Amino acid sequence: MLNGKRILLIVAGGIAAFKSLELIRRLRERGASVRCVITAAGAQFVTPLSLQALSEDRVYSDMFSLTDESEMGHIELSREADLLVVAPATANILARMAAGLADDLAATVVLATDKPVLAAPAMNVRMWTHAATVANVETLKKRGVTFVGPNDGAMACNEHGPGRMSEPEEIVAAIEGMLTAERPPFEKPPFEKPLTGKRAVVTSGPTREAIDPVRYISNHSSGKQGHAIASALARLGAEVTLVSGPVAIADPTGLRTVHVESADQMLAACLAAGTVDIAVCAAAVADWKAAHPAASKIKKKAGSEPPALELAPNPDILATLSNLGAKPGAKRPALVVGFAAETENLVANAIDKRKRKGCDWILANDVSAAAGTFGGEHNTVHLISAAGVEDWPTLAKGDVASRLADRIALHFSRPPKAEAAE
Ligand SMILES: Cc1cc2nc3c(=O)[nH]c(=O)nc-3n(C[C@H](O)[C@H](O)[C@H](O)COP(=O)(O)O)c2cc1C
Repeated sequence: MLNGKRILLIVAGGIAAFKSLELIRRLRERGASVRCVITAAGAQFVTPLSLQALSEDRVYSDMFSLTDESEMGHIELSREADLLVVAPATANILARMAAGLADDLAATVVLATDKPVLAAPAMNVRMWTHAATVANVETLKKRGVTFVGPNDGAMACNEHGPGRMSEPEEIVAAIEGMLTAERPPFEKPPFEKPLTGKRAVVTSGPTREAIDPVRYISNHSSGKQGHAIASALARLGAEVTLVSGPVAIADPTGLRTVHVESADQMLAACLAAGTVDIAVCAAAVADWKAAHPAASKIKKKAGSEPPALELAPNPDILATLSNLGAKPGAKRPALVVGFAAETENLVANAIDKRKRKGCDWILANDVSAAAGTFGGEHNTVHLISAAGVEDWPTLAKGDVASRLADRIALHFSRPPKAEAAE
């Protein structure tokens, strides 16, 4: 909780400024008060009126306003805060902060403060990776500015890569980590490609179980989450085989995709991928298949009863991979991660599933219709391991994937002792 904490939120001019409105709500729900400073460019993206309505406080933008300066001067603004949060932090404001400029109220407040500063960058991937921005961020980090994000993912400019502002919940977690001891900021692996040399297999999408040559049993899985995880692992340097059921989305780049239809084929493809360090079972594998699929189309006969469909269980891919070591010659992946898609008793069922299947981690996600997970862009998951339950904020599927990949990289980077205590 952030009871009584005072946040000075500086909103600069980026598309992600709309997320800062949500950030104000999340902070106030946790008991913090929020006062906003907006840059001239920021006001092109969100209105000071929205910030004022959500923060229930005056919004400051003009350095030379006589009333503002007499009532709440620029030095006073930072003095009266426990933490300054720059979100979105544009390439421009980061450059101005790094150069020590004081050319508008936002920059002056940041320069004049002795309070901790958190920046949530948001910009086009090329702006983020430009040597100038890289150098500015390094400078600011050396001077003690804390950064949260940016995340990888699709951007408003139709590009993909690092540059998306962290989600409000992630920024709140970082703020809580800075202001309280309750929630440490999410830990990132120390190297850019920490999974280099690791092999991974990821399953994704639904399976399709034939009833006859034209009909099948399947489910609504889109493959978005599994594909994003495969991409995120590949971006961290892992050699990834993605085993995908039938989906409408494109094969990710930078990894090998094997297309399958049924659960039997999916399991065979996973085993054919050879010895791997990491297995992530994100596919929604059908529990049952037709016990006797017909070789030709089952005909509808006038006046006769519909045919009975006898079902048989499908192989359990997660349990099979989790117990691979039991068979001579087959090596179990060092880390097996499953998903538990549940509509009720989410965490309890997932804890039980982890034990039953023998996997290391379970990501439990709510797939009730109200959650909109299947086919949707977001996912709310809980990571269940031997150490307990980690609640993750609702994140875009790409961000869930990046976070899981980071978490996996950290797992492998820790010495065995630390891992045991995990
Ligand atoms: C439609 C549009 C979107 C923009 N989005 C971003 C962005 O996401 N990140 C960024 O650094 N700059 C972005 N810019 C450029 C900034 O608005 C511009 O650099 C401005 O000077 C930033 O000023 P400030 O840092 O004082 O708010 C965008 C510009 C436009 C026109």
